[in-house]
Amino acid sequence: MAFMKKKADSANLPEMLPTHVGFIMDGNGRWAKKRGLPRSLGHVEGGRTFKKIMQYCKDIGIPYASFYVFSTENWKRPQNEIDGILKIMREYLDEVQSHLGDGVRAIFLGDKSAYPDDIRQRMIKLEQDTAHHSRLTVLLACNYGGRDEIAHAAREIAELVKSGQIQPENITEQTIAEHLYTAGLPDVDLVIRPSGELRLSNYLIWQCAYAEYYFTDVLWPDFSPEELDKALIDYAGRGRRFGGV
Ligand code: IPE
Ligand code: IPE
Ligand code: MG
Repeated sequence: MAFMKKKADSANLPEMLPTHVGFIMDGNGRWAKKRGLPRSLGHVEGGRTFKKIMQYCKDIGIPYASFYVFSTENWKRPQNEIDGILKIMREYLDEVQSHLGDGVRAIFLGDKSAYPDDIRQRMIKLEQDTAHHSRLTVLLACNYGGRDEIAHAAREIAELVKSGQIQPENITEQTIAEHLYTAGLPDVDLVIRPSGELRLSNYLIWQCAYAEYYFTDVLWPDFSPEELDKALIDYAGRGRRFGGV
């Protein structure tokens, strides 16, 4: 799906922009290491980039932007790194309304139950407070894993079968999509992964089935609107066929 850009000030941008851009915000640790800094400072800097890129998506008229914040696998990291990330999340959630600005709706993707109660409550409140906004929808994948999401959907659908609300032969792709964390939201058109890794790392695996991929060696804290422009220009030149001719 494509979307008409809103602003002509990014003169180098193509007319047709993707509807949903997914960002795998990778490379914070390496960014810090290169500077002899603790990994946690890489995450702080990565958070600044997140704000800048989110604002830019809003300015140029991208309607959906998703960000991989923390994966179900990231709990394997050292406790002090996890604590550092939770601290940044708390700070963000406290001041988030002000950086989201007008018109931004926030939705969390993933299992919130793994988070401490105060963080979980703040996530729910933010979703409620911004539910009526529609200029830019920001999807924040926190304790998110694509396989975990599909297993969660399977459990919900199994319950419906068990209670006789749905027959197994009536389960379609649409049924599954409606039970994902992204129910009602568009599939990903363009995935951007900085930091040189060429993989999805369990990010929106169902929703990326027909996405275009853009990889760059730039580390996430160094990612910029100019880098995003490059990805959008590259995307505009792709031929998307979805299995057709
Ligand atoms: C991404 O940066 C942030 C999270 C996964 C939370 P990394 O911390 O993975 O950075 P690298 O890959 O070690 O450089
Ligand atoms: C993916 O990055 C998760 C996030 C960016 C939140 P990782 O750094 O965890 O991925 P791998 O381990 O390199 O696959
Ligand atoms: Mg990484």
